[in-house]
Amino acid sequence: MRIKLPNPIPDKLRPRPRRPGDGNGNGRLTPTQATIEASKDAGISVVDWLDERTSLSGAGRWALFRKVPKGTNWFYTLGSATLFAFLSQAVTGVFLAMYYRPDATSGAYESIRHINDEVFLGEFVHGMHKWGSTVMVVLVFLHMARTFFFGAYKYPRELNWVIGVTLLILTLMMAFTGYLLPFDQRSYWASVVAVNINGTGPFIGPYLSDFLRAGPEFGATTLSRFYSIHMLLLPGAIAALIGAHLYLVTKLGTTAPPWSKAEKRSELRETEA
Ligand code: HEM
Repeated sequence: MRIKLPNPIPDKLRPRPRRPGDGNGNGRLTPTQATIEASKDAGISVVDWLDERTSLSGAGRWALFRKVPKGTNWFYTLGSATLFAFLSQAVTGVFLAMYYRPDATSGAYESIRHINDEVFLGEFVHGMHKWGSTVMVVLVFLHMARTFFFGAYKYPRELNWVIGVTLLILTLMMAFTGYLLPFDQRSYWASVVAVNINGTGPFIGPYLSDFLRAGPEFGATTLSRFYSIHMLLLPGAIAALIGAHLYLVTKLGTTAPPWSKAEKRSELRETEA
């Protein structure tokens, strides 16, 4: 049986030739124009096809089309900027992982040299990843400052703040574990110092530094451990937590800027008096 699917664009909305010469004179499109119009509709048909089977457009509308309070400004873009930095780190990291070798006997260092000197656009992608990590750390702090000074951590957004703090810790751990990977003198000794500092923490400090060192000596096993934490454990955890973070942002809506709240409160007081 042939099922008739709804036409994605109603006939009356389809573009019609308006001037002489646009079509074939009787209001119809020439074959070339018809092909062009059909290819323009193709994207819509694909989206329609997918939506009919998944009903995803409802979720898309829920996530993207929502009311935003008056007075929002550029500071509200810092969360999305952090998200973009994370995505950029993920993409450049995948390309670096194609060439990087977590081998402590000069293999790691040599693979980074190979990426920088011989791989097409290698130095560029490596540079993006290296500087991008600093950009992400700076952005995450700025975003946190924005949510703090705008009072966005208060009821009902406390859970999102807690998720945010976890994201901050995980972002710092990403920077920390990534620093060792080139395995040159600087990254080696900086990581030795950092692991020792971790060891001075109360209660869990010594266990934490043992876990990070992955053995009695700082060496090959440490590099493998840092690499797996850096490229599997942390990105997975960050991606999942960003999902939860954005779900709550969508569900709870965005906080109004503090100054627009102040206006409202004084209006309320005036009414009460
Ligand atoms: C990987 C790190 C992070 C990403 C990708 C991220 C992303 C976002 C995005 C896209 C938004 C919505 C737009 C905006 O308000 O800027 C948002 C909102 C929010 N974020 Fe983050 N965030 C991160 C880390 C943090 C941190 C470290 C905190 C605080 C400790 C935090 C707390 C919040 C709060 C409370 C909101 C709600 C803001 C409001 O309702 O006005 N986030 N986040």
